Amino acid sequence: EADSANLLPLLEKQWGTARLDHLRQIGRIAQQLGTPAYLVGGAVRDLFLKRYAPDLDVAVEGDTRMLAEACKAQIHGAHYQFHAQFGTAILEDSQGVALDLAQCRLEHYPAPAALPEVHPGNIHADLARRDFTVNAMAIRLDPQHFGILLDPYDGQADLQAGLLRTLHSRSFLDDPTRILRGLRFATRFQMDLAPECHQQLKQALQADIFTQLSGARLWRELRYLLELEALPVALSLLTAWKLWFLLRPTPPASNTMPTLLQRGQEQIQWLSAQFPEEPLAIFIPMLTLIWQDVTLRDIQHYLDRWPVPDRSQLLADLRVLPGLPDTLLKAKRPSQKANIWQGVSVAGILAAMAIYADNPTLVDSARLYLQVQRRLPSPFNGQELQTLGLKAGPSLGKTLKLLREAQLDGEISNKENAQQWLIKQGILPPNPL
Ligand code: CTP
Repeated sequence: EADSANLLPLLEKQWGTARLDHLRQIGRIAQQLGTPAYLVGGAVRDLFLKRYAPDLDVAVEGDTRMLAEACKAQIHGAHYQFHAQFGTAILEDSQGVALDLAQCRLEHYPAPAALPEVHPGNIHADLARRDFTVNAMAIRLDPQHFGILLDPYDGQADLQAGLLRTLHSRSFLDDPTRILRGLRFATRFQMDLAPECHQQLKQALQADIFTQLSGARLWRELRYLLELEALPVALSLLTAWKLWFLLRPTPPASNTMPTLLQRGQEQIQWLSAQFPEEPLAIFIPMLTLIWQDVTLRDIQHYLDRWPVPDRSQLLADLRVLPGLPDTLLKAKRPSQKANIWQGVSVAGILAAMAIYADNPTLVDSARLYLQVQRRLPSPFNGQELQTLGLKAGPSLGKTLKLLREAQLDGEISNKENAQQWLIKQGILPPNPL
């Protein structure tokens, strides 16, 4: 029987003793407190998939803070942070390895796509509130039953068959984010929806369920999707599951989108290798590429609903992208080219490099800008120009811009020739003899 399978040998093989010992200690302490603890969610699923789960989630039938406190007292070097808002605790061992403690809960959805009402419950209630059978398994941590699998929905069988199955027929209506979570799981683990869930998906779409989901929640799920390494592969699922409308008014007309996104990912990797310390939101260049052939009016409609950061820059990029090859061709001087790139965000430049991958002149110009031109230190800053006798104000800004351009065009390279150049331009008075 699936429910009584003992996973100890598998656990030992996959995780080794340090992690298991830590879980054993937690299970023992939880038992002492009379609040049994279970390993739940993605880590149990990943165990069967033979994937190393970086994050461990432990569900407790009782007070998480009390358990965290007892672990701190009894486990050498352990400490925790409690999040009162969610009633969760992050427990860290002496090596700084963290694990999430959450109280088992029962969820009730007062309306479709609304946030659920939450009450304390037992492990069975906690598994019953989950998205898919493969995510609704638990492993007992109490000493007498350590390593025993709880699998009330036969998640192990679905995992083996590669099927994502909801726990009940209203699941997608209760929480449409499960559809996008499903799409991500299907992509990452090469799974498909169970046949009855394709039907549930169809019903949820007919009920226009996504219009009832808040823009913030939808955007969060879309962002995770856009950040998927296997995003190019996920596109065929967007087609099969009829979900393109979430991102654009119509599916892409040609089948070049996967290649385009893959090129975008390669450019992002290139840039992160060049500048590892530079923070870069992967989802913005991906969205730019997905929207490169969509009208600005349609894009505006999506942007109105989602809390996308820097939306005006994103729109500006999309406006510039189609004409870029021509605009750059007309720009003769290096400074003119750099000025064009300066009006585009880094995300937009990466998108341009993907769109115009077969235009080496454009790609080289983009690389030169990203690697060198945008970071060129100016020979003088505003303060220094003032000590040379220039007045603060808009004209100073103009002078700084002229200096930058002269520098980009190779006319100046240091303080001395920059000063001579300013004299020649009539910006500084000639040197007294
Ligand atoms: N979960 C759920 N419904 C949600 C969100 C989460 O049922 N809308 C449950 C699932 O059981 C899931 C667990 O909470 O396994 C943890 O969620 P999350 O961390 O988002 O995903 P993981 O399954 O852990 O997958 P991964 O971290 O590998 O993406």
